[in-house]
Amino acid sequence: MRLDGLDAAAIEEAGRLIAAGELVAFPTETVYGLGARADSDSAVAKIFALKGRPAGHPLIVHVADRAGADRFAASIPAVAERLIDAFWPGPLTVIVARRPGLADAAAAGQGTIGLRCPAHPVAHALLVKAAEAGVFGIAAPSANRFGRVSATTAAHVAEEFGDSLPVLDGGAARIGIESAIVDCSSGRPVLLRPGVLTRERIEEAAGERLQDPDEASPRAPGTLAAHYAPEAKLRVMSTGMLQTALKVLGAEPLKLAVYSRSIPSGVAPGVVHRRMPARPEQAAHELFSILRELDREGVHLIWVEEPPPGPEWDGVRDRLSRAAAS
Ligand code: TXA
Ligand code: MG
Repeated sequence: MRLDGLDAAAIEEAGRLIAAGELVAFPTETVYGLGARADSDSAVAKIFALKGRPAGHPLIVHVADRAGADRFAASIPAVAERLIDAFWPGPLTVIVARRPGLADAAAAGQGTIGLRCPAHPVAHALLVKAAEAGVFGIAAPSANRFGRVSATTAAHVAEEFGDSLPVLDGGAARIGIESAIVDCSSGRPVLLRPGVLTRERIEEAAGERLQDPDEASPRAPGTLAAHYAPEAKLRVMSTGMLQTALKVLGAEPLKLAVYSRSIPSGVAPGVVHRRMPARPEQAAHELFSILRELDREGVHLIWVEEPPPGPEWDGVRDRLSRAAAS
């Protein structure tokens, strides 16, 4: 059920549904979220059931502002404070120690909680409405079935879960890949998931280097090797490999799509070609949409030219390598 994100009555209705313990999908600037009130274990259980998400994988709790974060955090360490100041509202999630007894199911029983204040005006309006009803956080994973490509439009959400799920439509997500996640719960900040904010920008705001995840880092399904998978088999290749593979392929009647910045020469007729944007923000914005579109076209293989090496491509490179791993 589509609810118009520009309609105040629709936001009110969505807020009422959330307060009543129902699920509502909503837009954020990164991807669409599948929301439920974070303080209700039974409401949150509906998210796990609908997504097919295995138990034990914690959800991000979305808050309207910094004060909302204080309701769920046991404490906000100085480094998290600096990141919140620099990037909220925006595409950054911090993981901090959780207030005991609150949002147990959303946190999947962990002692920590992931918190994010989204910048999308429709998400913000929904969070404010919910807060007026006494609900100070909305737990929301990306609005896709577990392991699949995230949804960046209301139509994608309907593709995933059907038309009966209420979806606030706020247009196409501006950023297109999920938030960067920084674990601030263990003394040294760890970048659990890259996003469009570059490591450099996050480190500058944090005032210290970000560690890479290791064995001791918390579990995060968005960081599983295989995730964000389209139906088609996806492979990431260097420019040279792509050229060679296309030559070898010749006129084979494979259902093949090529997604590349360069224009490959000698592409056999029947091969679907999509041009990857030269700018990383633009590539992130359309990535999941393109993967869904190629699935709809029924291709069996997607050959992707590897993005350039710069750190501004980390988020896109990360999603592509996970999509390729399944
Ligand atoms: O941009 C985003 O972050 C989107 C929008 C909807 O806000 N949300 C999103 O949620 O990507 P999800 O559930 O698809 O990914 C959340 C990631 C998961 O990898 C989860 O394991 C990790 O955050 N996470 C959440 N809470 C955590 C915690 N307490 N400790 C470690 N990882 C956590
Ligand atoms: Mg996800």
